[in-house]
Amino acid sequence: MKIQRTVLVVDDNEINRLNLKLLLKDQYQVLEAGDLEKADAALSANRVDLVVLDLALPPEPDNPEIGMAYLLKLKKESPDTPVVVITGHDEHALAVRARKDGALDFFGKPFDPDEVQDTIDRAMESRWQQLREQELKRALDSRMGSELLGESAAMNELKELIAQVAPTPSTVLIKGETGTGKELIARRLHAESPRANEPFIAINCAAMSAEHLESELFGHEKGAFAGATKRKLGWFERASGGTLLLDEIAGMPLSVQAKLLRVLESGEFSRLGGESVICSDVRLLCSTKADLEQLVSTGEFRDDLYYRIHVVEVTASPLREHMEDLELLAARILVQKGLACGKQIEGFSDQVIEQMQRYSWPGNVRELENVIERAVVLSLGNTIEILPSLAGPHVAHESGDLLQQWFQQLPDSGIKGENAVADFEKQLLLIALDRNGNIKARAGRWLGFGDRAKDKMRYLCDKYGVDSQEDS
Ligand SMILES: Nc1ncnc2c1ncn2[C@@H]1O[C@H](COP(=O)(O)OP(=O)(O)OP(=O)(O)O)[C@@H](O)[C@H]1O
Ligand SMILES: [Mg+2]
Repeated sequence: MKIQRTVLVVDDNEINRLNLKLLLKDQYQVLEAGDLEKADAALSANRVDLVVLDLALPPEPDNPEIGMAYLLKLKKESPDTPVVVITGHDEHALAVRARKDGALDFFGKPFDPDEVQDTIDRAMESRWQQLREQELKRALDSRMGSELLGESAAMNELKELIAQVAPTPSTVLIKGETGTGKELIARRLHAESPRANEPFIAINCAAMSAEHLESELFGHEKGAFAGATKRKLGWFERASGGTLLLDEIAGMPLSVQAKLLRVLESGEFSRLGGESVICSDVRLLCSTKADLEQLVSTGEFRDDLYYRIHVVEVTASPLREHMEDLELLAARILVQKGLACGKQIEGFSDQVIEQMQRYSWPGNVRELENVIERAVVLSLGNTIEILPSLAGPHVAHESGDLLQQWFQQLPDSGIKGENAVADFEKQLLLIALDRNGNIKARAGRWLGFGDRAKDKMRYLCDKYGVDSQEDS
């Protein structure tokens, strides 16, 4: 699936414009401007990925300074849009100067079609590469700095609370529904603490047996249990100086709760099967989506441990309670997912935004991320016009509609032959998963695969790199 990229050709010579258009039109959308005023108008009315600029322009077609001045203006106003200049073949010095002033490349008149094509393709590629790098860097920075997006009252309050609590050594209990950003909050608490340059480690307490979890947390000596072939340091030791997040603390087995409580009370522990006493200096954060108070009242969670970890409480709001942030979150996620898929997608249609705003988002920001990722994979143009069916009470699109819309877009999409078959297969796969809770076997049966539904689905998911669950 290719995204339409747009080239603006600024040249007063109509024949030149026509030649360039003929040369580039199969690959790019080509806009034309015969003078600088028209160029400005085209730039403000369109998303332009690259400008081809003739230097000799009216009102003084013999004076390349007009074009040079415009180049400077372009570089100042939109520094990220690459500019390729057209010079005469004997005007090497001019080309060198244009480069110094920010032109990415140049080609000469009369046009050599291969040279022009090469130059434009290379410039376009470098622009794309640059965007990708910026986004990767931003994603990396935000992982380190763990950026919390949102400007709603709820988010601002949350950010203030974090700023207040982060510098203290207090244990924090982070509450919130699934996908609301509890782990992100934990990272933020770490990043804004004096421990920011020390390790941050998150461990899921609900995913392991008691023995395994205990050895993960506190480590073990060689021979502590069958399979303990060498000494292993636990996270309390490895995170020393830093921050340890006990994720899903409600799922911690009672025996481990007892040991954790002792460790918190004494500040000391020993490795499984070990004698020596170890002190560790970790800042402890805990998170839960379950109602801990309820679990305390039924005896499933120790009350003494609860009071220990419940020093400061931070609650992540469900997305439906800060819908003001939806558009901002969606826009940011769209850029990330688009780049990850190699698609440059500009935004959402009004209808899609409205659809997102009406939905209740039981899976919160994570669900929003998943929905947008799917929409990006399914999209053919540079705007998201269709959302995959949403799971909750406001189901908006039946998959049949989706397929039909896909078919309608096909003639303009540039997808042909084998690619169309593969693309279709992939859409169908995604739709089947979508309608069947993302579970392979169920989706396979829905597609009528019969006995070997699961195998066939596994094959297809591998083929298209689609994530799905093995079982319900
Ligand atoms: N306010 C926010 N700004 C930016 N990204 C967010 C925000 N809230 C959540 N996210 C993103 O949503 C996804 C889910 O967040 P996270 O893993 O922190 O949720 P969680 O509450 O720990 O969920 P679970 O209970 O299922 O483990 C992450 O990719 C996270 O970056
Ligand atoms: Mg989490």
